[in-house]
Amino acid sequence: MSTHIGAQPGDIAPVVLMPGDPLRARWIAENFLDDARCYSEVRGMYGYTGTWRGHRVSVQGSGMGQPSLAIYAHELMSQYDVTTLIRVGSCGALSEKLAIRDIVIASGACTDSSMNRIRFEGLDYAPVADFGLLRAAHDVAEEVSGDATVHVGLVFAGDSFYHPRPELVGRMVEYGVLAVDMEASALYTLAAKYGARSLVVDTVSDHIVTGEETTSQEREQTFGAMIDIALGAAFD
Ligand code: ADE
Repeated sequence: MSTHIGAQPGDIAPVVLMPGDPLRARWIAENFLDDARCYSEVRGMYGYTGTWRGHRVSVQGSGMGQPSLAIYAHELMSQYDVTTLIRVGSCGALSEKLAIRDIVIASGACTDSSMNRIRFEGLDYAPVADFGLLRAAHDVAEEVSGDATVHVGLVFAGDSFYHPRPELVGRMVEYGVLAVDMEASALYTLAAKYGARSLVVDTVSDHIVTGEETTSQEREQTFGAMIDIALGAAFD
């Protein structure tokens, strides 16, 4: 067992999908995997391992925000030999190019988090997706995304859901940022540290410009396309 994951070595597959919500982890395991088994319930942050089209795959809840995701990503890579991590989460649209329920594949992540400033002593690090995974996800999306439009570009991974300076985040749209989540920067940075592959695939759950929000039924439907993209990319 690691500090926050109640699994034995070998219980977790080398490929892990990471939704923020642990109940989404259960939903993915029940709806997309065969023979899924729960390997951890520590703090209610469920983790499951099963198979998808014969490939062993795990799903681990990450919690919300970079500090929480960093705990799970760190332990998955350092103690369970995980080599591919794909976040399957939600994001808020910043750009008018995006509509509710669209899917964003994050090529890189800006952030206001101090985690990398501390790690690099004030230097700016550019956290980016694994190119092979990104390309595979983009290709797979053409076949499985259904009605959802897929965008590739930058996200802003903030530390605050209720941001104290939304105008600063909004300014990033002028520099190509598409959407906000709260996890991408930490995932890309830690995967680079451990030499692992990582990708963030987010569904737009709310639109910061128009104020629109998705219903839970809509989220579920689009969430399915996102999982198909993530699994297809992982085993391309
Ligand atoms: N995830 C989903 N919507 C978000 C938002 N508006 N801000 C940050 N993260 C999000």
